[in-house]
Amino acid sequence: MKVLVIGSGGREHTIAWKVAQSPRLSKLYIAPGNAGTASLGENVDIGASDIDELVEFAKENEIDLTIVGPEQPLVDGVVDAFQEAELAIFGPDKAAAQLEGSKAFSKDFMARHNIPTASYKTFNNFRPAKEYLKTVSLPVIVKASGLAAGKGVIICQSIGEALDALEDIMKRHAFGEAGDKVVIEEFLQGEEVSIIAITDGENYKMLLPSQDHKPAYDGGRGPNTGGMGAYAPAPVASEEVVEIVRKDIIEPTLTGMKEEGHQYTGFLYCGLMITRDGPKVLEYNCRLGDPETQVILPLLESDLLDVLESVIEGGFAEEPVELSDDFATCVVAASGGYPGKYSKGKEITGLSDVDADYAEVFHAGTKERKGKIVTDGGRVFGVTCRGETLQKSIDRVYEELDKIKFNGMQFRSDIGRKGLRYY
Ligand code: AMP
Ligand code: GLY
Repeated sequence: MKVLVIGSGGREHTIAWKVAQSPRLSKLYIAPGNAGTASLGENVDIGASDIDELVEFAKENEIDLTIVGPEQPLVDGVVDAFQEAELAIFGPDKAAAQLEGSKAFSKDFMARHNIPTASYKTFNNFRPAKEYLKTVSLPVIVKASGLAAGKGVIICQSIGEALDALEDIMKRHAFGEAGDKVVIEEFLQGEEVSIIAITDGENYKMLLPSQDHKPAYDGGRGPNTGGMGAYAPAPVASEEVVEIVRKDIIEPTLTGMKEEGHQYTGFLYCGLMITRDGPKVLEYNCRLGDPETQVILPLLESDLLDVLESVIEGGFAEEPVELSDDFATCVVAASGGYPGKYSKGKEITGLSDVDADYAEVFHAGTKERKGKIVTDGGRVFGVTCRGETLQKSIDRVYEELDKIKFNGMQFRSDIGRKGLRYY
């Protein structure tokens, strides 16, 4: 099979790494990829959002399967464009990807189908939103409805902060068109977990529950980032919790989408808060998570190409999706200053000292320059280690990460610690 992976982050390096293990792979392309994916296949100089060029490339190179990493091309209709050209692609079409692309859509959808989520109101205009804020209890969450690269959610401790957030989004257009609508919602207390299923719209199979670490610094302090590390399986998602998530969240989501004429296929990511009243949906994503993928795919025993192909070609219900009994932890190394200003082009050393029996280095913001690997983004790479216990996977990952250096490297030293108290 000739496979094209779309994207350039740690998630896409991990997808490429998993695909590269399949005996069925004959040729792997990554568009645009990074220095890590270049060692697994051929990087193609086409941006993840350049849909027409991606279709053209897939046609010319007779790609058998395309796997989409990030949300933007899905929300923009990359799947529809490939399908029109009779090219096989894994992911939801544009209508189904609204579950992530529009928080106004997803909140109304959950309300229509009684799927547990924070209570909310949606606004198209500033004035009524401002009036509504006078009635809410604190803290309150203000969200831009559209895609905002994970930055469009503001947790407000006072009405003043909420008004500022509203003005930023609706008047100063801090997130562009993504802020034409806002969602104001109740603050949910609890522990977060990411549960991702693979689905053909009717059948679904769950991957292991994982936990991301969004704040930049130890103890959950500092500004939110794209994610500084993850581990799986996350024990907060007990068997009992997972059962509720199946019955009250995943199944009504798939049935609801189908009933509404937007059958959902692809990865369905449920960002959940486990509250005292049970799991509630914080958000849906229409793709795999980053850095969750860096721990989930190493714990998937089945051949990813077999699984994804069965979703597209049929036979998914009978296709085994086998998961490991191990744990995995991924720690992300970021450029100094991230998620604020940071510089690029720092040489990364020690990459080849990592013990390949235990650890994988998944590149994100890296590139090759004159035979050296240098930093090229905020999140630079993640190191993932498996272990028979969570503690072992954590100990190993920090031991391996210690071998890699670049100027200004920053990482959290408490990834996975939240999970240890369950053992
Ligand atoms: P979202 O992109 O909607 O998942 O929001 C990003 C992050 O904001 C989530 O991962 C949570 O940490 C936080 N968040 C979003 N909505 C809520 C809520 N209703 N209550 C508490 N925290 C929230
Ligand atoms: N790690 C959160 C996300 O991928 O949205």
